Amino acid sequence: MPDHYATIIETVRLRLRPFRQEDWAAVHEYATDPEISRFQDWGPNSEQDTRSFVAKCIESSGNPKSRSYYFSINLLGDDQHIGGCVLTLDPHSIKRASVGYTIARPYWKLGYATEAASELLKYGFTVLSLRSITGSCDASNVASRRVMEKAGMRLSQTERNAKFFKGRWRDFLEYEITYDVWRLEHENRQKA
Ligand SMILES: CC(C)(COP(=O)(O)OP(=O)(O)OC[C@H]1O[C@@H](n2cnc3c(N)ncnc32)[C@H](O)[C@@H]1OP(=O)(O)O)[C@@H](O)C(=O)NCCC(=O)NCCS
Repeated sequence: MPDHYATIIETVRLRLRPFRQEDWAAVHEYATDPEISRFQDWGPNSEQDTRSFVAKCIESSGNPKSRSYYFSINLLGDDQHIGGCVLTLDPHSIKRASVGYTIARPYWKLGYATEAASELLKYGFTVLSLRSITGSCDASNVASRRVMEKAGMRLSQTERNAKFFKGRWRDFLEYEITYDVWRLEHENRQKA
């Protein structure tokens, strides 16, 4: 496994790096925004919720046994924290993982989640040697569905009444991309 503590991924506009304590205030700002957690089984966060979350992200970066790779998403120029993303290894297979992401509301619809998710797929396939990466979201979460589609993932499963939170049952969608499909698409993009 790579030394996640030191992993920094740079994209065209973003730097994905391990979380730091000083990210707390920016995380708390969006984690208390009800729109951010509208389709999530967590939030809006209390101060303690955010402290625990940031502590978990930092702890997992320094723990070689952790199955979760949390990244703080920062703007390349000024290192402004604008969100977070995670790649979590399947407990039953180190060749499979799932992806997740959050972007603070002022930065929505600028392509940042797609840019971060696409880089996480690349990291998972080329550095962690994964064979398959999945992602799931509430079926009503149009933005998250689009992020996965734009990153090349395809709908693999629909689960009716998959989870109950915030007062109602939710249908969940699972998206997936295999290494073979990703490699082909990646090669085609390089040629274009
Ligand atoms: C989902 C989320 C990360 C998307 O972040 P983002 O940086 O705005 O996404 P992108 O800019 O890469 O946009 C990807 C696509 O989603 C669309 N989109 C983004 N926000 C949208 C919204 N609120 N409603 C509808 N479509 C939206 C974009 O227009 C784009 O599609 P297009 O190219 O066809 O126009 C962000 O909305 C978020 O943090 N939501 C709350 C947390 C969450 O739901 N995370 C996912 C957990 S499963």
